[in-house]
Amino acid sequence: MISQNIIATVVAAAVGLLVGGLIGHLGTKTVSSSDTEKISIMEKLVADKWESEEHLNHKIIDMVNTDNLRNNLMELAKFPHLAGTERDHQLAHLIHNRFMKAGFDTADLVSYDVLLSRPNRTNPNLITLEDEQGQVIFTSAYQEKSLQKDDSDPEFIHAFNAYTPAGDVRTEAGRGVVYVNYARVEDFDKLEELNVNVSGCIVIARYGKIFRGNKLVHAQERGAKGMILFSDPNDVALEGVEAQDVYPNSWWLPGSGMQRGTTYMGDGDPLTPGWPSTAQAYRLKIEDADLPKIPCQPIGYDDARVILEKIGGTPAPGDDWKGGLTGVAYNLGPELQDRYSNYTLRLNTHNVLQVHRSYNVIGIIKGEVEPDRYVIVGNHRDAWGYGASDPSSGTAQMLETARVLGQLISSTGWRPRRTLVFCSWGAEEYGLIGSTEWVEEHVDKLKERAVMYLNTDTCASGPIIHVPGSPLLWDPVTAVMKMVPGVRDGATVYDEWKAYQISQNVTTLKMKTLGSGSDYAPFSFYCGIPCVDMWFRRDKNKNDISIYPSYHTGYETFYMVDKNVDPGFRIHQGCGRIASLLLKYFADSLIIPYSLQHLPEAMKDALDTFKKSGTRDKIIRIYEKYTLLEESLTNFTDAAATFERELEEKRTKNLDPVTIRAINDQMMKLERVFILPAGLPGRPDIRHAVFAPSQFDNYATSGFPGISDLLHNIEELNETERLKKEEEIKRHISDLTIMVQRAVSLLKDFHMI
Ligand SMILES: *[C@@H]1O[C@H](CO)[C@@H](O)[C@H](O)[C@H]1NC(C)=O
Ligand SMILES: *[C@@H]1O[C@H](CO)[C@@H](O)[C@H](O)[C@H]1NC(C)=O
Ligand SMILES: *[C@@H]1O[C@H](CO)[C@@H](O)[C@H](O)[C@H]1NC(C)=O
Ligand SMILES: *[C@@H]1O[C@H](CO)[C@@H](O)[C@H](O)[C@H]1NC(C)=O
Ligand SMILES: *[C@@H]1O[C@H](CO)[C@@H](O)[C@H](O)[C@H]1NC(C)=O
Ligand SMILES: [Zn+2]
Repeated sequence: MISQNIIATVVAAAVGLLVGGLIGHLGTKTVSSSDTEKISIMEKLVADKWESEEHLNHKIIDMVNTDNLRNNLMELAKFPHLAGTERDHQLAHLIHNRFMKAGFDTADLVSYDVLLSRPNRTNPNLITLEDEQGQVIFTSAYQEKSLQKDDSDPEFIHAFNAYTPAGDVRTEAGRGVVYVNYARVEDFDKLEELNVNVSGCIVIARYGKIFRGNKLVHAQERGAKGMILFSDPNDVALEGVEAQDVYPNSWWLPGSGMQRGTTYMGDGDPLTPGWPSTAQAYRLKIEDADLPKIPCQPIGYDDARVILEKIGGTPAPGDDWKGGLTGVAYNLGPELQDRYSNYTLRLNTHNVLQVHRSYNVIGIIKGEVEPDRYVIVGNHRDAWGYGASDPSSGTAQMLETARVLGQLISSTGWRPRRTLVFCSWGAEEYGLIGSTEWVEEHVDKLKERAVMYLNTDTCASGPIIHVPGSPLLWDPVTAVMKMVPGVRDGATVYDEWKAYQISQNVTTLKMKTLGSGSDYAPFSFYCGIPCVDMWFRRDKNKNDISIYPSYHTGYETFYMVDKNVDPGFRIHQGCGRIASLLLKYFADSLIIPYSLQHLPEAMKDALDTFKKSGTRDKIIRIYEKYTLLEESLTNFTDAAATFERELEEKRTKNLDPVTIRAINDQMMKLERVFILPAGLPGRPDIRHAVFAPSQFDNYATSGFPGISDLLHNIEELNETERLKKEEEIKRHISDLTIMVQRAVSLLKDFHMI
């Protein structure tokens, strides 16, 4: 960290030189007003406002206000605001007005016409059990029960899984239903081992562990004709299912809570993969879009019980297949129990695909020295319902951050060195659509100019801060967490984070890299822009659950957050303080505060994982030149260390504005070196060769995903296919080695090619 003294010296020296030069040049003449102007320009160019205006940081911490945050959330989560609806559009205007009121230079509504999916309002999706006379014995619910006034809006969207087709499928009498646990690959493998064939069946799976889109793909690949997804009490109601144990009396999910959500496996508008959905853009035919083929419907655990308790056939193979419904055996099927041998199960859905207009709101505070360098913050606006945690807690924060930085401008005359960009994305829940379309429209500018992207979806869903991101951002994020007062009992958020890591038996304190699942994806995985995703989430020491219980249900209300998640709004406040300071840190620092050495370090960690798992031996047998990738990474580690050491040294001397800019660009472009123009093998929209989720579980993170993807199931291929795969692996590893060598080269002295 560079001290304030050094900066003061740099400025004084720079100004001194300039003045000295001018005086020398002008002889005895007095300094003219034009010279004074030159001096003031020079002062601006070399000022480090993050260091020299430290008092503003304290001011920011004081300004982030819990009452404002609570009021913001109350307004944002008052009504359901599904993507492309009237309320979603109203909120876009509200956010636009707030940006303008905060004193932003510009704020614009940017629209895209995109393919969305909705259930039929007058013809709800139903799951029924019928007896031999065709008498309906049971009909599933398509709406949550209203449990208090906050959750009783008649406009609330009925339960459905977006982009699954309309369909009407039924089983034979007495058979054809299979319980598939979490519908992971290993679950289907187990079923095969037990000779339970899901082909032609309706499968029923619990939510959790992996992305629901992957569950549906797995079921579809194995020939299932329909899928039912349910939330199991073991994942959403760990303290009991009675009224006193669940919402509104706790954060746990009641029996009628249903998790909505997309099943689309790509990102962006399904009709314009890889290009923006602007008015003039070419669009695929709907039947050519890569959408799910079998019907799928979510239900709550009250309804799941009615179906599950009737399944007979093969018993559950172990406790890890049993959920928390008391009295239910979690049999696998495919037969129903004898006394239900004349029952058929029917899944009848009426989802509709339709093009809707979706808005992004883009607000700008223009940078005064480097307006063409962008420090970006974003969160989506659309929700499956009230969306009090996801995304409105993040938006409540973003509005407060906008107000605070705006007030800093009006009350102190501050202006960031670089441009700040605030983004409220539309249609994220359907597949990161608003952010992806915008990035696709502006990809060249963003690749050239974006310094970092901060994503703040779901600020408050639990008490524990989680900030996965690019290794280049780990140190600056840590530095900011150390400045911000704790949201519970810790002195700072950093102290709380550290204590939690230790309680989780984490031995080396490190941040994590990004998985999939929110709007940072196009910035990071498509453009290579350093990204960080900030949220406060569940305490795994208390409950090791996949996601907070009310996620995407009718009970994710303001009431829930106000009473059960963040009473007092200190979590929101922590979120707002970190966001404001992190943005200012990146916008105002003279030298962009990337932590360079963590990039090769994290890459080395990924290779170490290959070593530990035996994957390295497998790779070496295919391609012995893998060792060159390891060697190049050692070179990269050395190059990054040298660069940082020399930078420290340079910073003690006078740096002219051109050199400052050139150093910053060198660092800013570093992660972008790892973008493969044609994408990862078989995945044109995922281009980050180092940090991106693997193809076989959209939620998981792994380093070098191309390697893991290519190795996936390679043993099961026949000779011809395997040899083809091996050639691909060789080429991919060669590509990776070349990219690392390019990174080493980028860090050399400017004149060295
Ligand atoms: C919804 O269902 C009703 C009744 O079956 C039908 O008349 C209507 O066309 C459907 N709406 C859409 C948008 O498909
Ligand atoms: C599963 O059933 C389908 C359709 O009845 C059949 O084609 C397939 O071979 C079966 N698979 C196994 C592994 O028995
Ligand atoms: C199923 O239906 C058949 C024919 O209607 C009947 O003979 C049989 O008793 C029924 N079985 C049960 C378990 O209800
Ligand atoms: C690593 O650096 C050394 C020294 O500059 C160089 O000779 C070697 O070729 C580099 N290795 C790779 C794989 O880039
Ligand atoms: C190997 O598998 C591929 C794809 O499954 C198939 O098209 C091909 O005919 C197989 N080749 C041989 C020699 O079995
Ligand atoms: Zn979200």
